[in-house]
Amino acid sequence: MIHPLTGPQRANWRCVRSFTEGLRACTPNVRPRPPRKGYDPASVSSEESHLPARAAERREALKEVFEQAQGCVRCAELAGTRKTVVFGAGNADADLMFVGEAPGASEDERGLPFVGAAGKLLEKLLGEIGMARADVFIANVLKCRPPGNRDPQPAEIENCQEYLYRQVELIQPRVICTLGNTPTQTLLQTTQGISKFRGQWFDFRDTKLLPTYHPAYLLRNPAAKADVWKDLQKVMAVLGLQAPKKR
Ligand code: URA
Repeated sequence: MIHPLTGPQRANWRCVRSFTEGLRACTPNVRPRPPRKGYDPASVSSEESHLPARAAERREALKEVFEQAQGCVRCAELAGTRKTVVFGAGNADADLMFVGEAPGASEDERGLPFVGAAGKLLEKLLGEIGMARADVFIANVLKCRPPGNRDPQPAEIENCQEYLYRQVELIQPRVICTLGNTPTQTLLQTTQGISKFRGQWFDFRDTKLLPTYHPAYLLRNPAAKADVWKDLQKVMAVLGLQAPKKR
């Protein structure tokens, strides 16, 4: 007998579905990339043969990390107050990955990152550079909403870091764009604020990283959108994509 899912279980299922469907829906959009190290065309099934090197394996591994995160209780308070674990969503083979701070109320409700007001702005900015959510992967430093949207605590960041690192390892984006203080400080291991680093290139392990302002900051300070626009142009140039000429 199939039991209907209720409450958080139901929300979780929606979240699993959006994640896995998202991955499936996104695969045709995968841009051809040079074969990755260790590429063995023979290991790719005919169904997956349109995918770049080992994309299918990496996608499966990402699903495993996703499943693992769903039951995470490393932060007792967050595990006790969250409705969903917001793992991240988008193209598992994306060249560009955005990292935000933590889910807010809308994200916690829907199990997806950046679906509230800040998310709408992020989508708009992506649209302006000719991209859509399905072209990129979007994640957060914390996978659970801090109650009342308080700042993430250092212990929570540390507890959750492993998930983010695994996401980067498996997605292997060419560029990571950190949005605001928390992801920039977490990945660059610094206590300096975003304005010191915004618009400059850094290395995170083998990946180029460019910090920019968080869309929530842009909602409060629309004039800063011009800076983010410049930052996104730099990202496009590194990815070898043609950036639109004019806003
Ligand atoms: N702000 C974030 O940093 N992440 C989200 O997912 C939503 C808002």
